[in-house]
Amino acid sequence: MKQPVARLVGTGRYTPSKIMTNADFERMLDTSDEWIRERTGIRERRIAEAHETVAFMAKVACEQVLEAAGVSVEDVDTLILGTATPDRPLPATACDLQAQLGASNAAAFDLGAACSGFLFGLTVAEAMVGNGSARNVLVVGGERLTTITDYQDRATAILFGDGAGATLVQPAAGDGRGILATYLRSDGRLADLLYRPGGGGNHPPDQGLLEDRSYYMKMAGREVFKSAVLSMADACDQALQRAGIAGQDVDILIPHQANIRIIEATAKHAGIPMDKVYVNVDRYGNTSAASIPIALDECVRAGRITAGSLVLLVAFGGGFTWGSVAVRW
Ligand code: UT7
Repeated sequence: MKQPVARLVGTGRYTPSKIMTNADFERMLDTSDEWIRERTGIRERRIAEAHETVAFMAKVACEQVLEAAGVSVEDVDTLILGTATPDRPLPATACDLQAQLGASNAAAFDLGAACSGFLFGLTVAEAMVGNGSARNVLVVGGERLTTITDYQDRATAILFGDGAGATLVQPAAGDGRGILATYLRSDGRLADLLYRPGGGGNHPPDQGLLEDRSYYMKMAGREVFKSAVLSMADACDQALQRAGIAGQDVDILIPHQANIRIIEATAKHAGIPMDKVYVNVDRYGNTSAASIPIALDECVRAGRITAGSLVLLVAFGGGFTWGSVAVRW
């Protein structure tokens, strides 16, 4: 087993207080609470209100991280924000976050890997810490998916919610705790199975954008589901192999929270019983890059992760992108 070069210190999260239940969707769309629960495991999701921008939610999460880690904001040298829903097209929302947080000594940038953004961010942070170019990297996942969700499309509208989560990556202390293994992959050939066709350079904003609803997320659900199951299995295998551990060594699996059926298939493949799998998709739906750091913070604050816990993080998302990070907490 390799000696970790980087460790995770402190966690934080923010979720809006406004809740949208399945019953709310029953009143808007041809759907039912029963269908949503059986096919996805989701009961409710959080909806950001006007002031709850990605930068705002991420700032609250980051402040919690810094407090837990005992690190002052001036010491943050890098700020990586995984997001598919920036507050504005330019600049990077990470720069707005930097300004609001007061992290004046940091380099700040967004990272676009959809639902895998937090794990891609952790991997970049580990590399920067490992090569000596950074010592305090805030890694954040923040999303306001409700702004790009088509509430006329029952196949996607029910899935998504808003929120943010974060952690701090620092040099390891040489005690065996920290990041044991990382694994990242993408397959851009599958991009059009989960995408937003309009609003970028290929289809700049015009009247047509509003009429054809191409501003919103489109998803071929069944195809994405099949790929997700395969990719999450691959990501588990790779992290376990690279860390030199087996499924039964894992104390807690935190998978990206997209669908309870994908989570169960992933756990089964990895040989990890469901009582060692963290699930909150029922309460938040899919919050994309925010899903793993929100779950991580819930686990840490509830005492489900303590010093020495072996934690496996696994994600899958649009791009397609997928990956995993194994951590000795
Ligand atoms: O974060 C990573 C990206 N996203 C994902 O990982 C999501 C992956 N995909 C999924 O989770 C699932 O594919 C969904 C939850 C989106 C859909 O579940 P499914 O079991 O794959 O359903 P389906 O798309 O195959 O549709 C089955 C039926 C269809 O009706 P017909 O054609 O059989 O008559 C749909 O029209 O269910 C219908 N349907 C709905 N019915 C009630 C689709 N959405 C709904 C709905 N309520 N909200």
